Amino acid sequence: MAVIASKCPEITVTVVDINQKRIDAWNDPSLDELPVYEPGLKELVESTRGKNLFFSTDVEKAIDESQMIFISVNTPTKDYGVGEGMAANLKYIEACARTIARVAKDDKIVVEKSTVPVRTAATVKSILEHTGNKVHFQVLSNPEFLAEGTAIDDLLNADRVLIGGEQTPEGQAAIGELTSIYGHWLKPHQILTTNVWSSELSKLAANAFLAQRVSSINAMSELCEATNADVREVARAIGMDSRIGPKFLQASVGFGGSCFQKDILNLVYIARHYGLVEVAEYWEQVIRINNHQRERFARKILTSLFNNVADKKIAFYGWAFKKDTNDTRESSAIYIADFLIRERAEIHVFDPKVSLDQMLSDLNYLNSRPADINAAKLSASNDPYAVAGDSHAIAVMTEWDQFRDLDWPRIHDGMQKPPFIFDGRNLLDRATLQEIGFEYVGIGT
Ligand code: UDX
Repeated sequence: MAVIASKCPEITVTVVDINQKRIDAWNDPSLDELPVYEPGLKELVESTRGKNLFFSTDVEKAIDESQMIFISVNTPTKDYGVGEGMAANLKYIEACARTIARVAKDDKIVVEKSTVPVRTAATVKSILEHTGNKVHFQVLSNPEFLAEGTAIDDLLNADRVLIGGEQTPEGQAAIGELTSIYGHWLKPHQILTTNVWSSELSKLAANAFLAQRVSSINAMSELCEATNADVREVARAIGMDSRIGPKFLQASVGFGGSCFQKDILNLVYIARHYGLVEVAEYWEQVIRINNHQRERFARKILTSLFNNVADKKIAFYGWAFKKDTNDTRESSAIYIADFLIRERAEIHVFDPKVSLDQMLSDLNYLNSRPADINAAKLSASNDPYAVAGDSHAIAVMTEWDQFRDLDWPRIHDGMQKPPFIFDGRNLLDRATLQEIGFEYVGIGT
C-alpha cells in the first residue's frame, strides 16, 4: 500500500486494522523502527503518511469511503477440526467479507490479496451478495509475489502482476480499474490477467515450485555429503543450464517463512479433497525433505559435539527465516533450537533484528515444554562476541551479510576448544575459518 500511495498521489490509501497498538505504531513518527522491518519501507511511509497514506482503526469509515478494498488478512494453517494442520483457516477472510457486506452502501471492487485456497473468491462473493445491502461487488484475485527483505524492489520491478477476475463485462471493467493502478509504474506486458481460479491457484503453484527447488537442492546436499561432491558446485553446474536457471538453488538448513509450508499444505489438502492422491503425495514430499533437512542439521550438531550437548552453550547467528527481515515465522532456527534444548543445550542467539521476546514466543508456540524452561535455556544479545564467548559451537541460521565481516580470530579465542561452526547457509569462507582453527561444517560441502 505504501508503494501504491507513493506511485499514485491522486489515490487515497487507508490501511485499517482492528489492533489499536499496531496502528498507533504505524502512525508514530517518533519511532525509530516501523512494526515491520523491510529495507526502503520507512522512507516510503514517511514520504506519504498523512498525505495520501493513512493508518486507522476505523474500519467501517474506510470501507464506506473506498471504491476498492484489498483484503490482506492472514490465512494461517488451520490448527483445529477438519483439515487441521493442512487447510487454510479462512475465518479472518470471512470476517472481512461480512464486515464489508454489512457496511457498504455503494458498489465496490473487493481484491483478494491474502493467499487463499482455490475457489475462495466464490465464498467471498457469496457472503458479499447474500448478507449485504444489495449493492454490487466484483471480486478480484491479485496474489502478492513479493518476497520479504526485497519487498519494495519486488513490487517496483515486478516480474509480473497477476489479476484474476470474472469473465463478464463487469469483471473485465474491475480488472481494468486495478490494472490502471499498477499501470502507474509497470508496463502493460508486466500485468497478466486470468480467470479468478487460475490466479488463486497460480499463487499456490508459484510457492510450491520455489519451495520444491529448495527441497531438491537440499536433497542433493545430503547426497553430496555422502559422496564428497560439493553442492555449491552442483548448483552452479545445473544453474547454468538456461532451462533450470541459477536462482533458488542455495542449499540451506531448510526453508522457512510464512508462505512455503502453509501454501504447500494447502495445495496438498486441495488435491486430497479432489481425490488426487498421487498429486497430494508428490507435493507433500517437498515438506518432508524440508523437515528432514532441519533434523539432519540438528543431529549433525549433536553428533559432532561428541553426542553430548547437555549444558553446553551453543551460539546461534540469526533467528529470522532469512536475511533483511525481522520475520521469524517457520524459521528453521526455531526447530533446531527446540531439538537442541531437548538435548539440554543452552542456546544464545545473536540476530540483528529479532527480539528475545519474539524468539521465546516462537519456541513456546512450537512445543509444549513449560515456558520457564524455554526461558532458562534460550537467551539473546546484540553483541555477537558475547554470544559466542564460552560456546562450543556457532550455528549460522540466517544469511545476514554482516556475519561475514565479524572478527573471526577474536571469536575463535573466546570459544571452548575445539570450536565448531555449523554453517547452515554456506555463508562463510571455509578455508579462512579452518586456517583460524575452527572445525567447519557446511551444508552439502
Ligand atoms: C516467498 C515467495 O518467494 C514470494 O514470491 C511469496 O510472495 C511469499 O513467499 P518469502 O517467504 O518472503 O517469499 O521468502 P523467499 O525468499 O522465497 O525464501 C523462503 C525461504 O527459502 C527462506 O527461508 C530462504 O532462506 C529459503 N531459501 C531460498 C533457501 O533455503 N534457498 C534458496 O536458494 C532460496
